[in-house]
Amino acid sequence: MTNKPEKTVSTSRSRNIFLVDYETTTDPVAEAFRMLRLQIQTSMGPAQNGDARVILVTSALEKEGKTTIACNLAQMCAIAHIPTLLIDTDLRKPAIHNAFNIPRTPGITDELLSDDQSGPPIVETLIPNLHVLPAGKFTKHTTEVLGSPPFRRILSNLKKRYSLIILDTPPAGVVADVGVLVKKVDAIYLVIRAGATKIRTVKQVVRTLRDLGGNVQGIILSRINPRRDKYYYYHNYPNYYSSYYQEGDSKKKGSWWRRNKQEIE
Ligand SMILES: Nc1ncnc2c1ncn2[C@@H]1O[C@H](COP(=O)(O)OP(=O)(O)OP(=O)(O)O)[C@@H](O)[C@H]1O
Ligand SMILES: [Mg+2]
Repeated sequence: MTNKPEKTVSTSRSRNIFLVDYETTTDPVAEAFRMLRLQIQTSMGPAQNGDARVILVTSALEKEGKTTIACNLAQMCAIAHIPTLLIDTDLRKPAIHNAFNIPRTPGITDELLSDDQSGPPIVETLIPNLHVLPAGKFTKHTTEVLGSPPFRRILSNLKKRYSLIILDTPPAGVVADVGVLVKKVDAIYLVIRAGATKIRTVKQVVRTLRDLGGNVQGIILSRINPRRDKYYYYHNYPNYYSSYYQEGDSKKKGSWWRRNKQEIE
């Protein structure tokens, strides 16, 4: 079912998705992703039976930063020698192929919707340990594809090849696709665009994901504005994991990070 990665690609900054320079040790954004990696590793513990841990990144609404966080988290895990596969399960508005400058097809849907099932067309990136499975050709039947037994089988085979699999998804509060994935993963991380998404909306989505049997393991705040977003820090969420600055806050990043590091940890 699985095959060898097809080609090597650049992992440079793309049109829309910002990939942090992980080699810069002083960049607070890179540091936030290192911390997120650590917290996820700690909360998940070692994989059982040697199978990969599977995590799903979603949000209540559109444009909250899911893809940006999924790509950067995958990159950070890979450079820590964790064999990582990033899968674009946002079949409606896939974006991971843009982030890594690779074609959208072939991808998951090509594998699932064609007769020639030679194995998922996984792409190797320039970062050792980081592979990507793009979304593939357009289909109207996204929920059915992701909920299908063949997709379950592909995921289960891939778990034997990697230590970590990250699924980027569409917004859970808007489309049903996430619903069919929640029980296939070990942990769900919900991205909240700080200052934009209403807490009521977030709570509603958390409740829905849990009702569907999903393990909502943590909240990731994106586009933090330290002055504006105090409300989020103190809100009583079960797991508060990490935060991600808004681009353009670079002058404030260092000092804000130093002041708030303890609180976030
Ligand atoms: N921290 C940030 N600061 C500034 N811009 C950001 C930040 N995070 C994401 N963006 C930008 O916001 C837009 C949406 O980000 P992204 O695609 O990661 O969100 P998404 O939740 O995956 O969106 P969608 O629901 O469309 O899949 C992109 O143009 C991205 O570059
Ligand atoms: Mg996205």
